[in-house]
Amino acid sequence: MARNEDTVAIAEAWNHGFGFIKTSIVKTAVELEIPDILQNHGTPISLPDLSSAVGCPTDRLHRVMRFLAHHGIFKRTGEGGPVCYAQTPISRSLTRDKLGPFVLLQGAVCVPNGCITAETLRTAKRPGVELSGSDGLYEDPVFYTKVFREAMASHARLTTTAVIENYREGFDGVRSLVDVGGSQGMALGMLVKAFPRIRGICLDLPEVVARASPLEGVEFVAGSMFESVPKADVVMLMFVLHNWSDKECVEILKRCKEAVPVGTGKVIIVDAILDEDGGGDEFTGARLGLDVTMMAVTFEGKERTYDEWAYILNEAGFRKHVVKNIKALEFVIEAYP
Ligand SMILES: C[S@@+](CC[C@H](N)C(=O)[O-])C[C@H]1O[C@@H](n2cnc3c(N)ncnc32)[C@H](O)[C@@H]1O
Repeated sequence: MARNEDTVAIAEAWNHGFGFIKTSIVKTAVELEIPDILQNHGTPISLPDLSSAVGCPTDRLHRVMRFLAHHGIFKRTGEGGPVCYAQTPISRSLTRDKLGPFVLLQGAVCVPNGCITAETLRTAKRPGVELSGSDGLYEDPVFYTKVFREAMASHARLTTTAVIENYREGFDGVRSLVDVGGSQGMALGMLVKAFPRIRGICLDLPEVVARASPLEGVEFVAGSMFESVPKADVVMLMFVLHNWSDKECVEILKRCKEAVPVGTGKVIIVDAILDEDGGGDEFTGARLGLDVTMMAVTFEGKERTYDEWAYILNEAGFRKHVVKNIKALEFVIEAYP
C-alpha cells in the first residue's frame, strides 16, 4: 500500500508517545541482565532458556523481546525453527561493565511510575493505572476527564478519519450501528455525520454515559458489553478488545454476534494486528509500543497477531472474517456471524 506523508508522520507521532515505555523496557532488560546473559551464553539463546535464566514467564518475555528486537536492541534468529535471540552491537554495549549502569540510573530518575519493571515481568503485577474496566479510573476525575477521556477522543478522531476515508464501502446499506465501548461518542458522531442514514447507538458503562454530552444522531445506552449489546445492522468495537484477555474477548464477541442479523449483519473490530515475522509497515513500532503498554496498564490485555485474532473469532463462533487495511495503526476486521 502506498505510503503518504501524513501516514508516516502519524506513525512517527505514535512512536514519540511510546518513548517512555521504550526507555523503561530497555532499562528492564538491563535490570534483568539480558545483555550479560547473552554475552556469557556466546550463541543465540532460545526463549525458554532465557526465560529460566531471568525468571520471567515466556509469554511476557516474548512480547518484550519482540519489541526490543524491532528496535534493534537484540536480534531475533532461528528462521523456520524455534525463536532465539542474539546480541547486537547495541546490546553488547548495555552489559553491566559498559553502559548498563548508566541506563539504570537514567531509568531510575527519568522513567515515570507506570512503566514496565523487572518485577512487572516476573510477577505480572501492574505498575500503573487499570484502564480496561472502570475500577479506579473514574475515582480520579482529573485523570479521567483531562487525560484518559481526551486521549481516547483524540485517538477516536484520528482513527475514525482513516475508517471514513479508507473503509467507506463497509457502511453501504447500513442503517444502524452500535459502538461498543464508544466512550463519549466521538467515533459515532463522526460516522453518523459522514453517513447520515445511519442511526448511532453508543454503549458504555453507566459512569461513562452519565458524563457524556448529547450528540446529534447518537443515542447513549448505559450497560455492559459482557451482558448484552443493543441490536443493530453493524456492531463496532474500536480500541476495546486489546484491553481484555482472550477469554473475555470471546465473551464480548459472543454478545456482539447475538446483536447483529445472521446473513446481512457484521461485527467490525478496529484494532491493531501485529506482524510476528518482522514485516509490517510504518506503524509496526507503534503497535509493538502499544502492546507493551497494554502489558503495563491492563491485567491481560495485549495487541494480537492475525492468528491470535483468528483464534478468538473462531472461539466466538464467527463463520468468517476479512481484514481491511485502513492505513492506520489499526486495521478493520469484519467478522460475519
Ligand atoms: C480504550 S477505551 C476505547 C474508547 C473508544 N472506543 C476509542 O476508540 O477511543 C475502552 C472503552 O470501553 C469501555 N468499557 C469498559 N468496560 C465496558 C463494559 N463492560 N461495557 C461497555 N463498555 C465498557 C470504557 O469505559 C471505555 O470507554
